[in-house]
Amino acid sequence: MNALLDDRAVAARVLAHVEKRSTDLGETVWREPVENYRSEARLQAEMALLRRLPVPFCPAAALGGEGAFVARPAAGVPIVAVRGRDGQVRAFRNACRHRGMPVADGRGCTKTFVCRYHGWGYGLDGSLRHVPHEEGFPGLDRGSHGLVPVHAEERSGLVFVTQDGAEEAPADLPPILAPGQMLFDSAEREVAANWKIFAESFLEGYHIRPTHRESFYPYGFDNLNVIEAFGRNSRVTFPFRRIARLAEVPEAERRIDGLLTYVYHLFPNVLVAVLSRHTMVVVLEPLSTDRTRMVTYGLTNPPAEGEDDEPERLRAEAARDAAFADIGGQEDRDVTCAIQRGLSSGANDHFTFGRFEGAIVHFHRVLDAALMG
Ligand code: FES
Ligand SMILES: [Fe+2]
Repeated sequence: MNALLDDRAVAARVLAHVEKRSTDLGETVWREPVENYRSEARLQAEMALLRRLPVPFCPAAALGGEGAFVARPAAGVPIVAVRGRDGQVRAFRNACRHRGMPVADGRGCTKTFVCRYHGWGYGLDGSLRHVPHEEGFPGLDRGSHGLVPVHAEERSGLVFVTQDGAEEAPADLPPILAPGQMLFDSAEREVAANWKIFAESFLEGYHIRPTHRESFYPYGFDNLNVIEAFGRNSRVTFPFRRIARLAEVPEAERRIDGLLTYVYHLFPNVLVAVLSRHTMVVVLEPLSTDRTRMVTYGLTNPPAEGEDDEPERLRAEAARDAAFADIGGQEDRDVTCAIQRGLSSGANDHFTFGRFEGAIVHFHRVLDAALMG
């Protein structure tokens, strides 16, 4: 996997762009058929891919201690991830082995999963531990009626789940989340658009001035990004204007905290935005060709150098930062939904992604290849 630039190299590239009024340029233009956002067959192939690949399910911080769990559908399949007594994260198909009722709902912490239909109980390791009135099930082999496991592992502060197949999360992912980052918020909302249109809205800075004129643009640059690919993934750097002051700082002493936003696109459907005071993990769960559930996890950022690590202060600052970022986020969702409404206009049989939109070109190229393989 190609390595990402370190922070100082990113800062140097940003400062060069500020001086030259330039931005990173991709090599090619990409034409994506509009049909690929509308086709039911294409969506089904994408969902199968989401089940076949290791996909970030939640931040490891959402499974903070023994018995902490997160249950939600992933690519349409109910999954529950839980931290066991041994500290290991495991994940299961969230369906009781009696008659299929989910055994967990939302987020929480438990010692056992008890199905609320008839009360079958499962350990955190998925084993079937309790069957009320077991005499009604002569010959029941408990050993083969545990929750059905799927592959789960922690990497870079994220829990990856692979539902079908054995592909493991890449071992050489860059550090993305740090151990001390605390979960301060999690939420879900539905967005009336195809999941890929939504993903694209995170992946370029060419739209900053027209779309975010009063939210991000006063603090950021229009069309000034560092764009890097690593494996199937990418990272887009959105610098703040205040980064220009680093030009006066000797290179070895430059720190980028609070001076830029990193947006990691973890292929296919997860984004991690590292903002000034908080980090947002966004999972785009496709519901249909024109609806997406956005699942978000908000995490505090590590304290900057010289700052105290008082949790309440870090949480309050993270929440304030998240409220500001969501003003821009709503602008992106408005655009995303408007594009979706226009898909049926017939005006475009393809969309054109230009050289400023290299992370999106990478996304579509990798997605096409993955669907063919
Ligand atoms: S469906 Fe779970 S106990 Fe019956
Ligand atoms: Fe945006």
